[in-house]
Amino acid sequence: MKLILAPMEGLTDPIMRDVLTHVGSFDWCVTEFIRVTDSVLPEHVYDSYCPELKNNGKTSAGTPVHVQFLGNNPDMLAANAVRAVELGAPAIDLNFGCPAKTVNRHRGGSVLLDEPDVVHLLVKAVRDAVPQHIPVSAKMRLGYLDENHTLENAHAIEDAGASWLTVHARTKADGYTPPAYWEKILPIVEALNINIIANGEIWNTQHAKRCLEQSGCHDLMLGRGAVTTPDLSLCIRQNREDAVLSWQDLLELQIRFLNGPSKTEIGMVGRYKQWLGMMTKAYPEAKLLWDEVKRIKDLNEVIQKLHNFL
Ligand SMILES: Cc1cc2nc3c(=O)[nH]c(=O)nc-3n(C[C@H](O)[C@H](O)[C@H](O)COP(=O)(O)O)c2cc1C
Repeated sequence: MKLILAPMEGLTDPIMRDVLTHVGSFDWCVTEFIRVTDSVLPEHVYDSYCPELKNNGKTSAGTPVHVQFLGNNPDMLAANAVRAVELGAPAIDLNFGCPAKTVNRHRGGSVLLDEPDVVHLLVKAVRDAVPQHIPVSAKMRLGYLDENHTLENAHAIEDAGASWLTVHARTKADGYTPPAYWEKILPIVEALNINIIANGEIWNTQHAKRCLEQSGCHDLMLGRGAVTTPDLSLCIRQNREDAVLSWQDLLELQIRFLNGPSKTEIGMVGRYKQWLGMMTKAYPEAKLLWDEVKRIKDLNEVIQKLHNFL
């Protein structure tokens, strides 16, 4: 079984990828989407989205990082994919799932699922442009407002030469409201010859098992669950319902996160609180820690609090 850490803008950024692949058991991760419009992006943009390119396209734990693009311009997507590969990207992924209004208004992300021909054109342009040994994959939802084109899109992606397809088992209209319809991935698995990776609402080992059964997939992409419970991938692989990592392990992980290369100190504290807030859903200890740090703005003070807890 392959387990993949999901691309999540503002969440699985390079620092989060570093800590989660340090403890977790992921086959690869995917960058937050890089939006492509009408130019080949300068190197500093690639550096900021994917500093791992300078480390052979891998996190410090050695986990490959695939570069994800979002856009509707085939030539520019292709040119940027070529550039990313030149800079060291081990694989390219294309985003057909983003539900954000501004992105959709500019004909990017999930709105393209109403235009399977365009989806095909974009995947093919990128596939034809990058060297054959570099995988090109796509990530889609079941549809935009409805599921009328689910199979058409999946076939469009396969026929364009994609190596695999990840399916977030909801439409854009479903947003992020549970449930994820894992069983709706099954017809795609049955119709296509390429590998399908299932995604959506996997928060524990039970969910992973049920998702595999219902979707017919062998591989899973983990999103918010992997951030909320950093040992989720270990639990799933070891078929364990109980935690693999202790709260002490997790505190050390949080210190690693806070000591990571920060954009700005305030930004870093905010990012950490966002993560801690998510962890309060899974760990009673996180709630206690939250009460201690919620008003602190200074990075070193937060780190000191964590050391005290350790
Ligand atoms: C904050 C946030 C940002 C996201 N950003 C991206 C993104 O950049 N690219 C992408 O393909 N999907 C993105 N997604 C969707 C996730 O990759 C995933 O498909 C979705 O969260 C469902 O999986 P989950 O229930 O395991 O979280 C994002 C999701 C969230 C919650």
